[in-house]
Amino acid sequence: MKWRAHVFALATAVSYLGFGAAVPEQSLREAARSSGLLIGTAVRPAPLSEAAYASTLAREFNLLEPEDALKWEGVHPEPQSFDFSQADRVVDFATRHDMKIRGHTLVWHRQNPKWLTEGKYASGELAQILEQHIRAVVGHYRGKIFAWDVVNEAFDELHPGELRSTIWRDQPGIGLAENGNSYIERCFRWAHEADPQALLFYNEAEAEVLNPKSDAIYAMVGDFRQRGVPIDGVGFQMHIADLHADVASISANISRFTALGVQVHITEMDVALPVDPNGSPRPEDLQKQADIYRQIATACLSHPGCTAIQTWGFTDKYSWIGSHSKQRQGAALLFDRDYRAKPAYAALRTALESGRR
Ligand code: G3I
Repeated sequence: MKWRAHVFALATAVSYLGFGAAVPEQSLREAARSSGLLIGTAVRPAPLSEAAYASTLAREFNLLEPEDALKWEGVHPEPQSFDFSQADRVVDFATRHDMKIRGHTLVWHRQNPKWLTEGKYASGELAQILEQHIRAVVGHYRGKIFAWDVVNEAFDELHPGELRSTIWRDQPGIGLAENGNSYIERCFRWAHEADPQALLFYNEAEAEVLNPKSDAIYAMVGDFRQRGVPIDGVGFQMHIADLHADVASISANISRFTALGVQVHITEMDVALPVDPNGSPRPEDLQKQADIYRQIATACLSHPGCTAIQTWGFTDKYSWIGSHSKQRQGAALLFDRDYRAKPAYAALRTALESGRR
């Protein structure tokens, strides 16, 4: 199977133009060069030892982000011990292939270890634990990770515009819940102290369009910028599950955030499709999916402050969508399970090639 994937990858990378000469087509990272846009993907450490995974990754992307390896349950498994081994594998790969690295994520309400969630810590202790975590993790990657998702998904989808109730905010929280978003501010300040050169992002789900959640984030970021809280960017995840993207609203949202002086990264894009029991999508859906990838890339490219597009994995062989949808959805990424480029790949590359700024 492996040689087939390689032959196919080579075939898709070459096109025949006039005069019978074989001219290699550009990879995504080459296509993105003229615009300066970073083109990235989430990465799992285990398949880095798989030849097709590693070669596709190195060829196509200039930005990587560990998908799970930097979350608390992996990196901080015991109160007094950190385990950077898995994330280090991703960081080493990126360094060897001249790629930038995003860090995900320092503060989240999911994928936290039991010692933390069941530890019944008081606010003061929790603040110390969080500060120590941020300083240790950001410090370990100082000068290597160029951008961090400092806080992820702090706003609630059930109560639009309101902060989510979490261990960090008010269960019991780090002691600042009564002051609105000041627990978030505190995390940005700690991260900045740990690596003053790193770009610090607030990352959010379902806030890519104009809606109450993005309004609340916009107000928070505007306030942070005005008061000199060190925030450099906003990540819009862009998990699309219904084959629909309101591109006008996404574009207007990118516009208003970049006008605040922060960068926008598209951080976790995938476009889930309904799949049959074999995991296969309908051909017509692959084309609709391609259109969405092209439209989102074009919207990002039309704003100079939108500086990265990242997909949440790149091969359908490794994607969170299947297990999280009881295998009803899948096929969300640019390459199929055998690393064959899908229509979405060509559509994204075309958009990147036409992006000049
Ligand atoms: O660590 C265990 C491992 O010990 C066990 O053997 C294995 C068996 O299933 O599970 C492993 O945990 C999995 C974990 O990822 C680490 O691989 C969980 O089952 C799995 O549910 C978990 O899913 C991750 C999910 O976040 C958790 O919420 C996905 O891989 C990851 O893609 C997803 O990523 C999130 C972003 O961080 C934030 N935005 C949304 C996005 C999609 O949900």
